[in-house]
Amino acid sequence: MTSGAGEANIPLSFMRKISSTVARSGRFARGPAAEVAAFSESVSFDWRLWRHDIAGSMAHAAMLHRAGLLTRTELKSILGGLTAIGREIAAGTFRWRPELEDVHMNIEAELTCRVAAGAKLHTGRSRNDQIALDLRLWLRDETIAVGQDLRTLQKALVALAEANVAVVMPGYTHLQRAQPVFFAHHALAYVEMFDRDHDRLGDSYDRLGVCPLGSGALAGSTLPLDRAFVARQLGFVDGRGRPRLTENSMDAVSDRDFAIEFCAICALIGVHLSRLAEDMILWASAEFGFIRIGDAYTTGSSLMPQKKNPDVAELTRGKSGRVIGNLMSLLTLLKGLPLTYNRDLQEDKERLFDTADTVRACLRVMAGMLSDTTIHAGACRAAAEDPQLLATDLADDLVRQGVPFREAHHLVGAAVAHAEKAGKRLDDLTIEEWRRVSAKFGSKASGVFDLDRAMRRRALPGAPSPREVRRQLARWRRVVGNPELP
Ligand code: ARG
Repeated sequence: MTSGAGEANIPLSFMRKISSTVARSGRFARGPAAEVAAFSESVSFDWRLWRHDIAGSMAHAAMLHRAGLLTRTELKSILGGLTAIGREIAAGTFRWRPELEDVHMNIEAELTCRVAAGAKLHTGRSRNDQIALDLRLWLRDETIAVGQDLRTLQKALVALAEANVAVVMPGYTHLQRAQPVFFAHHALAYVEMFDRDHDRLGDSYDRLGVCPLGSGALAGSTLPLDRAFVARQLGFVDGRGRPRLTENSMDAVSDRDFAIEFCAICALIGVHLSRLAEDMILWASAEFGFIRIGDAYTTGSSLMPQKKNPDVAELTRGKSGRVIGNLMSLLTLLKGLPLTYNRDLQEDKERLFDTADTVRACLRVMAGMLSDTTIHAGACRAAAEDPQLLATDLADDLVRQGVPFREAHHLVGAAVAHAEKAGKRLDDLTIEEWRRVSAKFGSKASGVFDLDRAMRRRALPGAPSPREVRRQLARWRRVVGNPELP
């Protein structure tokens, strides 16, 4: 394969002309209507892919040189030109031109204006495989970043749990007090959820790691491109360093499953964040009074001077709706598309960017809020000392004496009803009263209401005994301190 000797011999004035109309030169007699240009441009948002676009172009150029399609001098001038453009973009001095549609055209056109060999950069490449590549590269970084933000949030939860390791509080079902748990147990429930999200990111990271470049517009290229080389250059390799390539060019340019997966994982993170936010909003209310969120993470009312509102938690709960919506947008965007690339796909970017930005902001601000939250141990304990929370323990005691559980359930229910009628706490019933409900209640009935003992008895794996909670805390301290994805 020959590439001609030295720099491509094309007059600069011609390069300027074609670079301002890149995608239309030749075929079209006139430019797009002004409203079409404004309607179809994407550089106003996809410019943020520039780093990955340049990295992909550099790998592609290096491969073209190996394939004999670029001379060494041409490669050097392309790499130099791209480096300079990258520097200018980073410094904010690069002039983005909406009439050039997207990030790809802007960079390539500017390069071609500066370096004649730029006109060879798009050899064997289409924007269709280029954008598929850019998105995968960008998502690799974002996936790692979301993973790190998840870890930050988990660390904040673990730290709050550790600082309040002895605090007992009611656990709820149906938002009714159910059984006592440790605050740490409740906090670690969220750590578990976010860890599943972290796992999911790891799984999707693996599927992101295949290189689509070389798929061309949809049917590859007739040129002798070295796809494996590009994949290796860009880190698309398996554990043994072997290149990982997309296996079907038509799928490769029209696939956005990886974007949907990312949005789905983020939607689930959003749901988990929203539940955490909801718990904190409830706990911060005067009705619960379990926590105090620090001033830095609450806001005042414009009218009511006494108010301290948990807006950060509320906004997190609200923003999760946006993230779920983004997932729905992407699924809907894809569902009717014939193979292969269709311009509809350009609509994926804003949803994807918004998802990453929103979820990362929520994760970070919630971590900050947790670190600035105080737990009111006394209020939590007072609520947990409601003896009815140990009604199940009492039934369990009857079961230990051989009473069938259904009968035990009934007898304890009757005792609760009796206490309610008598206007007494369950643990204030006299031996005679217990006996009146059933002779099966022994003298030990009231011993069951010792809260600390009750906590020690919840000793199964995954249950909130002090020992088990400490074991879980130690486990999480190790996990969240670990090196990050991948
Ligand atoms: N801006 C386009 C996008 O985001 C890049 C690919 C354009 N491809 C094309 N055939 N018009 O999808």
